[in-house]
Amino acid sequence: MTATVPERLRWAVDRLDVRAGHRVLEIGCGRGVALALLGEVPEVARVVAVDRSASALRAAGQRNADLVAAGRAVLREGELATVDLVGERFDRVLAVNVNLFWTGPATIELDRLAASLAPGGRLHLVYQPPDAARAADLAVRLTDRLTAAGWTVHDLTRLDGPPPLLGVVAHPA
Ligand SMILES: C[S@@+](CC[C@H](N)C(=O)[O-])C[C@H]1O[C@@H](n2cnc3c(N)ncnc32)[C@H](O)[C@@H]1O
Repeated sequence: MTATVPERLRWAVDRLDVRAGHRVLEIGCGRGVALALLGEVPEVARVVAVDRSASALRAAGQRNADLVAAGRAVLREGELATVDLVGERFDRVLAVNVNLFWTGPATIELDRLAASLAPGGRLHLVYQPPDAARAADLAVRLTDRLTAAGWTVHDLTRLDGPPPLLGVVAHPA
């Protein structure tokens, strides 16, 4: 299956800074385009990809059938707050254009991620806002939400684009 890879997904995967043997959780994997990119990174040992949309997850499974068959990708349907994370601890957690981290406190989800990160693990949030003003606003909101939930923002990067991109890296305090 071929697809044009959006710039935000390449940028998000390139910024993950994965090391040999790393386990990655992707939240809101959609149709699995970033998952396929992660599968091309030899250092990535395994990716657990979750999405609450059954149809998106089905497409992700079709796109990444080889990775799943090889045991390098596991797909789980459900909300981040409750989905089965297969008992894994993750070195990197990635979410691209997943709004729950700024639309509300996301306390349950962020607590869950804190408990699921391996020592030294990092949460990477990436967004493609419509313009620079929205990117600036999003950066403030995300920082506020993460800090309130007890996380430390370790890096905040904005690209004016096109396309405008925002990347936030955080770890539990
Ligand atoms: C805007 S799409 C982004 C998809 C992909 N990451 C991308 O950038 O192309 C957001 C995805 O996150 C999923 N999603 C949103 N909130 C979620 C939640 N609380 N738990 C699991 N998946 C969620 C949606 O079903 C959707 O597939």
